[in-house]
Amino acid sequence: MLATTSKHVEAPERRTEYASFEVRSLTPHLGAEILGLDLSKPLDAPQFRDLQQAFLDWMVLVFRDQTLNRDQHKDFGRRFGRLHSHPMHKGGHRGSDPEILPVITEADSAYTAGDGWHTDVTCDEVPPFLSILYMSETPECGGGDTLYANMALAYELLSEPMKAFLGGLCAVHDGALPYVGAYGSKPPEGGYPRSEHPVVIRHPNSGAKILYVNSGFTSHIADLSRRESRALLEMLYRHIAETPRLHCRVQWLPNTLTLWDNRCTQHHAVWDYYPHSRRGERVSVVGGKRPSY
Ligand code: SIN
Repeated sequence: MLATTSKHVEAPERRTEYASFEVRSLTPHLGAEILGLDLSKPLDAPQFRDLQQAFLDWMVLVFRDQTLNRDQHKDFGRRFGRLHSHPMHKGGHRGSDPEILPVITEADSAYTAGDGWHTDVTCDEVPPFLSILYMSETPECGGGDTLYANMALAYELLSEPMKAFLGGLCAVHDGALPYVGAYGSKPPEGGYPRSEHPVVIRHPNSGAKILYVNSGFTSHIADLSRRESRALLEMLYRHIAETPRLHCRVQWLPNTLTLWDNRCTQHHAVWDYYPHSRRGERVSVVGGKRPSY
């Protein structure tokens, strides 16, 4: 008998009441808009505590009508920890500030960053645990949304034998895959980072099991044959891309800021607005330990 692919997973009891702001969920499983916070000003301790809780509860938080300069964007990121320096910056690509990743697509762009399901920078030994994207310009024709996927739910929806099999595996995440293969950049001296992480990790706060391979960075599964690795990754990537209940969709407006938990989500920027432009900047935060089970 085949295991069902439409397994019911009850929508978790996620909190919607916070003292410091209002929350409007995007889906029962992932994503919420936060109303009533001005991120250009330092948050007080109760506001920040509520925000950290909402971040753990909803994984993707959207803030509208925020007017932030670059320093305020970085200061907001620093509340969570140390700012990440992007590997492409080392090679002289991607702007002048190592802590700011420009996310810019124009008519003559050869690619749009993040145009495929991925988790940010999993090639790093300790990847950023949180990213904050601030959008200043959205396409005139509309579009340019970002899709997010809940990777704890992605794990939960797998069959029990598949979970058991994946539990013993590790995968290699290689920065050359996106940065050279997809974006055509010249690697820095010593090459882009390459790291091995378990295929299933645990969220350090909730302990939830998370499917941790992504089509952006994962080159192969260690100890499997090339054919086995390719088939398994392809099945998992289809599971992530073709299971709509894992997803939420963030529609950007100018001055929207979105914050996501980079341990338990993936995202996909949709380039459906050619020849129009979209401009934003991303700050990411590192801290804690390597992803582990
Ligand atoms: C990214 O952080 O991968 C970019 C996402 C986006 O542009 O929507």
